[in-house]
Amino acid sequence: MPDQTTIAAQAAATSATSPLRVVFVGHVDHGKSTLVGRLLHEMGALPDGAVARVEESCHRRGMAFEWAFVTDALQVERDQGVTVDLSYIRFRSARRPYVLIDAPGHREFIRNMVTGAGAADAAVLVIDAAEGVREQSRRHGLLVQLLGVRQIVVAVNKMDLVGHAEARFAEIVREFAAYLGGLGLKAQAMIPTAARDGDNLTTRSPRLNWYRGPILVEALDRLDKLPAPVDLPLRLPVQDVYKFDDRRILAGRIASGRLAIGDTVLFSPCNKTTRIKTIEAWSPLPDAMPPRHAVAGQAVGVTLTDELFLERGETMSHVERPPVETTVFRARLFWLGATPLAAGRRLTLKLATQSCAVEVQSIDRVIGADLTPSGAAEVAPYDVAEAVLRTRRLLALDPYSDNPATGRFVLAEDGEIVGGGTIGMQGYSDQRPLVTPRAQNVAIVEHRVSTAARTARSGHAGGVLWLTGLSAAGKSTLAIAVEQRLFQLGYQVFVLDGDNLRHGLSADLGFNPAERAENIRRVGEVAALFAEAGFITIAAFISPYRADRERARAAAERRAEGSFHEIYVRADLATCERRDPRGLYKKARTGQIPEFTGISAPYEPPEAAALIVDTADATVEGSVEQVLRYVAAKFSLHRAGS
Ligand code: ADX
Repeated sequence: MPDQTTIAAQAAATSATSPLRVVFVGHVDHGKSTLVGRLLHEMGALPDGAVARVEESCHRRGMAFEWAFVTDALQVERDQGVTVDLSYIRFRSARRPYVLIDAPGHREFIRNMVTGAGAADAAVLVIDAAEGVREQSRRHGLLVQLLGVRQIVVAVNKMDLVGHAEARFAEIVREFAAYLGGLGLKAQAMIPTAARDGDNLTTRSPRLNWYRGPILVEALDRLDKLPAPVDLPLRLPVQDVYKFDDRRILAGRIASGRLAIGDTVLFSPCNKTTRIKTIEAWSPLPDAMPPRHAVAGQAVGVTLTDELFLERGETMSHVERPPVETTVFRARLFWLGATPLAAGRRLTLKLATQSCAVEVQSIDRVIGADLTPSGAAEVAPYDVAEAVLRTRRLLALDPYSDNPATGRFVLAEDGEIVGGGTIGMQGYSDQRPLVTPRAQNVAIVEHRVSTAARTARSGHAGGVLWLTGLSAAGKSTLAIAVEQRLFQLGYQVFVLDGDNLRHGLSADLGFNPAERAENIRRVGEVAALFAEAGFITIAAFISPYRADRERARAAAERRAEGSFHEIYVRADLATCERRDPRGLYKKARTGQIPEFTGISAPYEPPEAAALIVDTADATVEGSVEQVLRYVAAKFSLHRAGS
């Protein structure tokens, strides 16, 4: 019987033999090809006769031999598909195996990185000692940072062109270290090299004897490997579901973690749980036993103990460590599209095997090559940006820092890749708890008093007026005044107010994203019940997240279609801050209140509010009248005497 020990041994074997992946980046003119060619040669990693062939061809053409030609020749071979492995070159030091990922050009580099083909443990950045730190070097540093590559080695190359001068090296080190520092990065080593002469690659150069740090191969050997994906929680994005006889087999490649027969597994975003019945090997040896477990990297087929309806795009995990479920996330992205990217643009998002429509909700920061963050609202081609993306349906994902495989995405338009990046969830909560009912064995009890009967008695239907907006936008003031006026007019009306409910129903909740989401979930359900009871329910909550408001809408509209009315009580931040009736903004500005909406926590305005009440320039009475007119139009009051 395979047990935990065998599984662990298999996993350990997988991670021990898997090489350290290093991406080499740098401007072509900075000698990156030379450095790659020479390094591979010295590591004995070039195909037999490769150097001789290039030497011979140089000789024939009367040209001086260049190591870059060797790299180019390799590249040509790879482009022609002569070598089996297209984008990677393997080599081995005394310490361990490596995969060198050569990023031929900017676009290819980005494409490789975003699709995961270039997911690297470390990066070697090549800078030209004569040229110094140029835009390209900065841009490469930025890309490396953006992809979450945390380990960096800098080769200050072509030291021969600056007379092997220590002062010049120190100058570049100072400048580039400061740049990396600005990105929150620190190079593991900065090494003076002259790749053409083989200086400081695998042997220490006497011409650079003032340098005491590690040479290139030593620096590489000192790098750490990222945690092997087998040690991360299980993620198996479902690629396909096949039907064989009466069995359904789920097929996919295990992106991280491990699984075994009998495991209880959860599918996201559909949120269904079952157990693994069998693991199918694709091409078993005739007499081989079917496998009992499998690990990251393997393509598997599994059957389940329950007949669940599952499709491509679901992610299988263990129940205890599931992925995040969300319709909104933060992205650090590169933009490659031909036209600038702006808020509102709709694209296709691909994340593991999931694919769905996505909209750019906001562009929060654009970073050009010189790293000056600008307030620009558009992302030019090849620029990098921090943005918030929103999808229509729930996605299963992980923050990139937790799990690279399920934490990056690609953007496509008309079938073309136009961008991609990594995922962060700062300021946003996992929506899973909100969509996962815990209780089981509960039935629905039918009322004997119908909604129609209630409406007939009160003279109007129930419904929810959902007031959303910044703190101090005027929600409570408006709600209380409208309540009074509607009551006087004969309506059944009641206000649910954020500050009030946080003393009772939501007294256990604070203001982090998950707690706000739970607050709005509760209030949304209560408001829906009040509406069902026949009340015009005025809910006044900041309710900063669209997804939460949409769930509140769903709670009400499950009972009566069209019964939820989103009203945006709009006042710009400056106005709210000027009003600041309880001094909360002031406290938020001085850091005494963390995660304050509008200051240090997000507010997502409604996309299509039924009514917008601008309170910045209006009187309270004017705003009240505006809402009353809306109510009169939507809720006909036909009770005698009213
Ligand atoms: S919500 O975000 O969960 O919808 P809610 O409307 O219930 O918020 O409560 C908002 C009220 O709580 C504000 O009017 C303000 O008085 C108070 N408050 C205290 N801390 C915060 C905070 N960090 N962000 C926003 N409001 C806060």
